[in-house]
This record gives sequence, structure tokens and C-alpha cells, in this order.
Amino acid sequence: MAELGKKDDAVERADATPNTTEVDVVDAAGEDAAVAAIEKPVRRGEPILQVRNLVKHFPLTQGILFKKQVGAVKAVDGVSFDLYQGETLGIVGESGCGKSTVAKLLMTLERATAGEVFYKGQDITKLSGRALKAVRRNIQMVFQDPYTSLNPRMTVGDIIGEPFDIHPEVAPKGDRRRRVQELLDVVGLNPEYINRYPHQFSGGQRQRIGIARGLALNPEIIICDEPVSALDVSVQAQVVNLMEKLQDEFNLSYVFIAHDLSIVRHISDRVGVMYLGKIAEIGTDSEIYDHPTHPYTQALLSAVPVPDPEAREGRERIILTGDVPSPANPPSGCRFRTRCWKAQDKCAEEVPLLAVPERFKGQDTQAAHESACHFAEEKDVVHAA
Ligand SMILES: Nc1ncnc2c1ncn2[C@@H]1O[C@H](COP(=O)(O)OP(=O)(O)O)[C@@H](O)[C@H]1O
Ligand code: SF4
Ligand SMILES: [Mg+2]
Repeated sequence: MAELGKKDDAVERADATPNTTEVDVVDAAGEDAAVAAIEKPVRRGEPILQVRNLVKHFPLTQGILFKKQVGAVKAVDGVSFDLYQGETLGIVGESGCGKSTVAKLLMTLERATAGEVFYKGQDITKLSGRALKAVRRNIQMVFQDPYTSLNPRMTVGDIIGEPFDIHPEVAPKGDRRRRVQELLDVVGLNPEYINRYPHQFSGGQRQRIGIARGLALNPEIIICDEPVSALDVSVQAQVVNLMEKLQDEFNLSYVFIAHDLSIVRHISDRVGVMYLGKIAEIGTDSEIYDHPTHPYTQALLSAVPVPDPEAREGRERIILTGDVPSPANPPSGCRFRTRCWKAQDKCAEEVPLLAVPERFKGQDTQAAHESACHFAEEKDVVHAA
């Protein structure tokens, strides 16, 4: 887990090698044009991030002295989606399906194996130099665990203000203290806490510190990787409400990753469901929650507890059998087929593409959204998410 406010983390982020080959932006004029494109505002509702066939394979090696690659963990294996300016795109899926790896690729903290991530038309997997630095200022991250993600030896003032070391143009030295106090106020913390240490705060307050740090450089996009999963349920709502307020106030776009379907529904405009390195289904929150067409989404939703005994009556719970297969050796064809109750021969032979199913195309139904299933169809699932 990356540690916010940790000096070597800052160095790593400042110097990290850009994704893929260090080419494309070699001449100053090209770099100027890329920076200009990155600094240009995008209108609300237009795509700000376009992810295309993104792939991340981690090599599996054997041997101590002479390391030999014997395979690869296919953590992310052809993920595509758009993020529109001002929206929240939720990403849900079981642990290990590749959510955090997607987050790190969007943050350019990991080098993509293949694919593109266009931010305002610039493929950030191929940028370097000033253009990459500008991207990193505009795309920030909020991490999961507020207990381990803040450096215990730094004051909150230093933690929140640390991004200014890399981007002094945002807050000149003499103005930093005032700016940090302003950020504390924005996230609902007393500006007088500036000299306190992380252990003097509760979990929810620490996550507010993480959010303040994420806001420090006036970003346009915040990638939130399970930002409330480690918090008590009562505190989760407060932090989610704060994030919604900040989104309006600062015109932010969020990618909000979580495994809790109810929280994702609460905050998201659109939702993508991930399974074993791929997106199974993506659509608006009501398309996904009220009209799911992918068997995996239907199974996930059917597992959400329903508190109302009347609603619970007659409810069909889809129990998935078998374990999630290893991403080092995913099933052929549809990756979900080893656990899918609808699987047929075709499912082992052909990879289902993420697209609006033929049978729903052009129809005025909420089932007409992208689903990667050969036999996509609606199913009544009673759930409380
Ligand atoms: N640095 C790494 N080296 C090797 N495998 C990794 C690395 N990071 C993640 N993985 C593997 O990639 C898969 C996806 O992990 P991750 O993106 O963390 O999933 P999630 O966030 O959905 O739980 C897992 O099988 C995980 O073990
Ligand atoms: S393609 Fe086949 S195995 Fe995959 S989800 Fe659809 S029915 Fe199930
Ligand atoms: Mg994760």
C-alpha cells in the first residue's frame, strides 16, 4: 500500500518511469501542445478519460539467480470505459478482480502492458516530462486504509502540503500554511489541527486528511480506491456525503472503486462490474441495479442482504459455486463460465464482447446497456442495494 506523505513515495511519484515506451513527446513543440491540451477545461458531460483495451500482466517468474518468466498474472485484461466530466463512475467486483490495478494504471503508478488511457485526448500511457507531470497534478487518488496510508511521523500540515513540493506553482512557499488550513476547513476539520499527527485522529478524520491531500493540487479527477471500506458504517456515510459535496464544489470527476454495492449505488452515476480482469457489464446505476443482464451482476446483487422480511419472501438467491479462477490461468471464452449457471458450449469457445446485446439494440428498455454475455437477459433480482 502506498503511504501518503511518505517522502520516498513522493520521490517515486515524481520520478516514476512513464508507462510503456518513453517516446512520443520528445520535441518541445509536441510537449507544449500536449500540456496545452491537458490544461484545457472539458465541458460537463463530455468524456474526460477514455480507457481503451487496457491490459496489465504481472510476470510470474521462477528461479533465484536466473529468473525465468513462466507465466503472467492477467490482473487487467482488456478494460475499456469512458469517464465523463462531473460524473462518478463506480467500479465494483470481488477482491482480486483487478480494481486497484486499474486505479494504479489511471494514476500512471503502474506501466500498462498494452492499451491506452486518453485524458483530454492525450494518451497518458505514452507521455513523459512536463506533459506527464501536468497529468499527475490533475489526476489524484484517495486510498483505502486511512490507518496505514498516512505517514505517522509527519504532521497533517506536512502530509497535506507535501504535493506542493513537486508542484510549487500551485502554492508558493509563503502561502502553503494558509492553503493547508483552507483545505482542512474544506474537508470539515479544524484548521488549528495543522500541527497534529495522524494518530491523534479517528479513522473518518484520517480519511478526511487523505481527501484534503488529494484536493491540494486542484485536480480534475480523483480515483478513489475503496475510500470508505475500512471505516465504520456510520462514518462511511459522512465521508461519502463529504465527497459528494466536494464534487459539486470543485467540479470533480470520480472513479469510485468499492466492493460494497450499496455504497457504489449511492454515489455513482454509472457503474462498471468487474470480473477477473474484465468489465462484465456497465451502465447507469438504474440499468445495472434494476435491469442487470449479466449473470455475474445478477448473482452479486442477489447476495446483498434484504432487511425487509416481506420483500425477502420468495426471493431467489443465486449461489455461485466454485472459487474465482486464478488470473494467471483464466478460463477460455467467457471468464465467468466456470461459475455461471447459464453456461453453454459457446461460452467456452467465444469471448463475449462488452456491447449492447443484439436483442435489446434500439429498444426503449433499460436492459439496452453494455453487457459481456452471449446470453444476456433480464432477471428479476430482489435486493436492497
Ligand atoms: N504487483 C503485483 N505483482 C503480481 N501480481 C499482482 C500485483 N498487484 C496485483 N497483483 C494481482 O493482480 C490481481 C488483481 O489485483 P488487484 O488489482 O489488487 O485487485 P482488487 O483491487 O480488485 O482486489 C490479483 O490476483 C493480485 O494478486
Ligand atoms: S457468456 Fe455464457 S458463461 Fe458467460 S456469463 Fe454469459 S451465459 Fe454465463
Ligand atoms: Mg483493491
